[in-house]
Amino acid sequence: MAPLFLFGLSLTVSLLAISRKSVPFTRPAQMQTVTLIPGDGIGPEISAAVVKIFESAKAPIRWEERNVTAIKGPGGKWMIPPDAKESMDRSKIGLKGPLKTPIAAGHPSMNLLLRKTFDLYANVRPCVSIEGYKTPYTDVDLVTIRENTEGEYSGIEHVIVDGVVQSIKLITENASRRIAEYAFEYARNNQRSSVTAVHKANIMRMSDGLFLRKCREVAENYKDIKFTEMYLDTVCLNMVQDPTQFDVLVMPNLYGDILSDLCAGLIGGLGVTPSGNIGANGVAIFESVHGTAPDIAGLDLANPTALLLSAVMMLRHMGLHEYASRIQTACFDTIRDKKVLTKDLGGNSKCSEFTSEICHRVQDLA
Ligand code: IPM
Ligand code: MN
Repeated sequence: MAPLFLFGLSLTVSLLAISRKSVPFTRPAQMQTVTLIPGDGIGPEISAAVVKIFESAKAPIRWEERNVTAIKGPGGKWMIPPDAKESMDRSKIGLKGPLKTPIAAGHPSMNLLLRKTFDLYANVRPCVSIEGYKTPYTDVDLVTIRENTEGEYSGIEHVIVDGVVQSIKLITENASRRIAEYAFEYARNNQRSSVTAVHKANIMRMSDGLFLRKCREVAENYKDIKFTEMYLDTVCLNMVQDPTQFDVLVMPNLYGDILSDLCAGLIGGLGVTPSGNIGANGVAIFESVHGTAPDIAGLDLANPTALLLSAVMMLRHMGLHEYASRIQTACFDTIRDKKVLTKDLGGNSKCSEFTSEICHRVQDLA
């Protein structure tokens, strides 16, 4: 009888093991708070869409909504409102819609102020071709990793004499090393095989030279990842000829700003490209990088995809992988099916209809 009894026992144990696998859906995960910054223009509509889809997925997220308007602190320094800062300090994670940036006057970009305030030093933008959304390119699968705190964005500018303005591109050893380390860690943790450092050290010998030197040094510690270095202009040329040759790209701030837009263009634009700003100790803000589209604001015409895919990146950052995959699949299936699409994606549907379609699919996948 003993062997039979043992057989029965092991069967029970293996059944338990199977049922344990489905725990994320049967037992609600611990609720986590995320600071939601809806933003300007179409921001509130696309944020509402993401909240609705997360509700359908029963994602364990409690939203704490905060407005980010420019305010002047003591001494005339621009800052983000204290209640938004406090919320982020507590939650450590933010999701942000587009914020309008005045051109060449007034307050500085609140996007930049947020990155600076929370020292979000790495900007990560995965560009992956979307099945069913046709562009001149297929099989694009790359990630731009942009240094997010200094370089040409240091904001140090001054008039030397009337008619002559100087702008300082600040490159430091520490910021260069930490972004290089981030890029290699990212490659290793995301099963990617190569990192390309993008630079112009032939022209900016000292600043880009320092950046490149740090990348080379860090590469020494990651022998499992192939390291290459390329000039920015060559990357642009090769990118539009065949983007499939690229994997992870790491670069200083302005190069990353420009190259990430170019890469977004390969897969259909900023309306479908997610972005994450990552700092130390888990602090991060995920965002859509398209504009506020004031011309269609409030008309239920906006496409929430970029913000939704940024929110999916956020879920992965928080370790909520099942929810992330389910929402991502529902979004990509909706786009592949072509039945319910917003105007910019080639359809005739409203933002709310596109959102409902994703909600239904999310529920069906549960
Ligand atoms: C981006 C944007 C921002 C930037 C603007 C809105 C300040 O273009 O996130 O890429 O230049 O970094
Ligand atoms: Mn940009």
